[in-house]
Amino acid sequence: MNRKPHVAVVGATGAVGIEMVKTLEKRNFPVGKLTLLASARLAGKKLRFRGEEITVQELTRNSFGGVEIALFSAGSSISKEFAPIAAKAGCVVIDNSSAFRMDDKVPLVIPEINAADVKLHQGIIANPNCTTAVALMALYPLHQAFFVKRIFASSYQAVSGTGAKAIEELRRQIQQLVNGHETTHEVYPHQIAFNVLPHVDSFLPSGYTKEEMKMENEGRKIMHHPTFRASVTCVRVPVYRAHSIAVNAEFDKPVTVEAAHKVLGKAPGLQVIDEPAKNKYPQPLYQAEQYDCAVGRLRRDCAFENGLAFWVSGDQLLKGAALNAVQIAEELLR
Ligand SMILES: NC(=O)c1ccc[n+]([C@@H]2O[C@H](COP(=O)([O-])OP(=O)(O)OC[C@H]3O[C@@H](n4cnc5c(N)ncnc54)[C@H](OP(=O)(O)O)[C@@H]3O)[C@@H](O)[C@H]2O)c1
Repeated sequence: MNRKPHVAVVGATGAVGIEMVKTLEKRNFPVGKLTLLASARLAGKKLRFRGEEITVQELTRNSFGGVEIALFSAGSSISKEFAPIAAKAGCVVIDNSSAFRMDDKVPLVIPEINAADVKLHQGIIANPNCTTAVALMALYPLHQAFFVKRIFASSYQAVSGTGAKAIEELRRQIQQLVNGHETTHEVYPHQIAFNVLPHVDSFLPSGYTKEEMKMENEGRKIMHHPTFRASVTCVRVPVYRAHSIAVNAEFDKPVTVEAAHKVLGKAPGLQVIDEPAKNKYPQPLYQAEQYDCAVGRLRRDCAFENGLAFWVSGDQLLKGAALNAVQIAEELLR
């Protein structure tokens, strides 16, 4: 791989794409040339990168000539159609959608956990689901020390997890309510302002949603832990940015809060904020725009042996998407 690769961002105008461009710049990724791609709707728009204005181009089958790394965040159907075209044109695709995550030929990577899997790629590398990524940043170090058997978890997911239109929907509904008007909704099936929806992604015949099953399926693949079990309820909350997850984990080995603190205090990409007597615990408001995730509210789970309860928050646009993708690109250059 060229040390100063030509990078393309597909979906550059979206909630994740904008963060990808910012993250490439902030982390001084050695971009030789940057190509920004989106739909015809926003082609022509200009985005700033390292003090220069770059014009967004329409994504076509011919967009990938000379591109060496393509960061995709334009949804599953676009990834399914264009990622194989990009890979065939010779670039390595890092895909944010769910299109290839469970494909055996595609590594699914969180660099703090399974960076070595990057080397196994055959042209496409997948970025994990955002809620899974944030939860695993705290769960994986505990798994290494105490061997996790299963978790029960509930998520508190920000609207930016649904993309730019959902951020706008929450803003608009708050304005409508403040002005005494009826709310309108297009993105979510109900009002999200001042409400919570126990509904993220589509429902499966089992009654779980697709999002809820990603924690178990993607968790098994990323942690190389084929018997890991996860029963999850995913909830959308009226928070703009950063997801939180309340986790109850059962381990094989005995676990204490002190030992867990020690392990988590050394974990990369993770801060421990756990002083409940001083009202200190992770909050999405303060995790927004942070690279690190944060864990707190650690306690012995009173409902099972070798159990630990904790709360983890992290910016899903960064660790759950853009940052993780750029970290994978950094691994490619290593
Ligand atoms: N949001 C998150 O926290 C998050 C986290 C992890 C993974 N992801 C995944 O990342 C992907 C993007 O999510 P997002 O939240 O950034 O969504 P978004 O804000 O709706 O942005 C979608 C992007 O895709 C582009 N796009 C749509 N249709 C296109 C087409 N036909 N051709 C080319 N570009 C097209 C849009 O371009 P226009 O502006 O021109 O329409 C926009 O740049 C999704 O697969 C999502 O599941 C999101």
